[in-house]
Amino acid sequence: MQTERFFCPCPRGLEPLLVEELSGLGAQAPKTFPGGVAFRGGWDICARVNLESRLATRVLWHVDSGLYRSEDDLYGLAYEQRWEDWFDPRQSMKVHVTAIKSPLKSLNFATLRVKDGVCDRFRNRMGARPSINTTDPSVRVHAFLGERELTLYLDTSGTPLYKRGYKFAKVEAPLKENLAAGILRIAGWTPDQPLFDPMCGSGTFLLEAAQIALDRAPGLGRRFALETSGPCPAKVWKAAREAAEARAQPARPLQIFGADIDADQLVRAEQNLAAAGLSEAVKLRCEDVLLGSPPAASGVMVANPPYGVRLGEAEQLLGFYRALGDALKKRYTGWRCLFLSSDTAFPKNMGLRTSRRVPLWNGALECRIYEYAIVAGKLDAQTGA
Ligand SMILES: C[S@@+](CC[C@H](N)C(=O)[O-])C[C@H]1O[C@@H](n2cnc3c(N)ncnc32)[C@H](O)[C@@H]1O
Repeated sequence: MQTERFFCPCPRGLEPLLVEELSGLGAQAPKTFPGGVAFRGGWDICARVNLESRLATRVLWHVDSGLYRSEDDLYGLAYEQRWEDWFDPRQSMKVHVTAIKSPLKSLNFATLRVKDGVCDRFRNRMGARPSINTTDPSVRVHAFLGERELTLYLDTSGTPLYKRGYKFAKVEAPLKENLAAGILRIAGWTPDQPLFDPMCGSGTFLLEAAQIALDRAPGLGRRFALETSGPCPAKVWKAAREAAEARAQPARPLQIFGADIDADQLVRAEQNLAAAGLSEAVKLRCEDVLLGSPPAASGVMVANPPYGVRLGEAEQLLGFYRALGDALKKRYTGWRCLFLSSDTAFPKNMGLRTSRRVPLWNGALECRIYEYAIVAGKLDAQTGA
């Protein structure tokens, strides 16, 4: 099969893990950039990565690149591409432009010129042009502007890959699925170890972990842009889907546990687990992490604790962090505990020594993963930020 070029954006900080994941899925020559990984492969690999990657945000197919100096050059390169071979003018479209060190003054104007290039090509060749839909387009064209080079991509994913298609019950500021999956990888969690999220909210960590344990590809419950646009042959796509479906195991009780102090949050987690057919795989309970006891003798704890957004909450949180550190020291011997937080007061107030800190970006928000290994009889050694 002919080799194509692709680029997968991902949350910053996960690039090296994405390289590992993509290599495991058959990608060739993966190369990291800040915020993503470029690779080569056939359409079979593109289909597989869309269905099976837990860390990528999208899979972009590299259409062409060329030097540019002005907005007219953007128009020219966009006009030259065979868009009419890859989608239909009755489909709606959106152009996304991102830029690093571009000399152009307006990203909006750059976006407009790329869009004009694509639309004029359609109008001149087909007598019709796609309509623009900025909220839920059928086709997404991405343009990346470097200092001198423009690269055009066709998005093969559509809706971002962290939307797995099972989360119906929404919560405020939920954790993105690819970030949760990345944290499970950073934790080195494997399904033979008990996993506990004591502040599980809508259950993102639990859902990811249960799917990993049951070898269920994250994309089995959703659609992808490559099904309705671009050159991926339908039979290649069908084969990738059938292979992933054949591996998926039915739900069974797993050593995966979730808790939250808020009963409403647990209802959401339950609904999401049910939508994914995973109710029986995960055990949930309503509990204050400061008072509850561990669900197993040892294991891996993962959570993103509440963080202060409103005035007055910050002060309360400091006390919560201190109490959380105490609870871990007293009751979680044998556990490795990993927390994602953007709050620098978190590690200072936990009162435990971190065994590891890993920088990770949640969108534009710089966060850290703080890992604490709670070892018996070493409480003194663990104390201290
Ligand atoms: C930032 S959210 C976690 C979001 C979650 N990871 C998700 O994917 O939806 C923090 C959660 O901690 C819970 N929480 C706050 N204080 C708690 C406590 N003392 N014990 C248990 N859960 C608590 C909140 O109810 C909230 O659901």
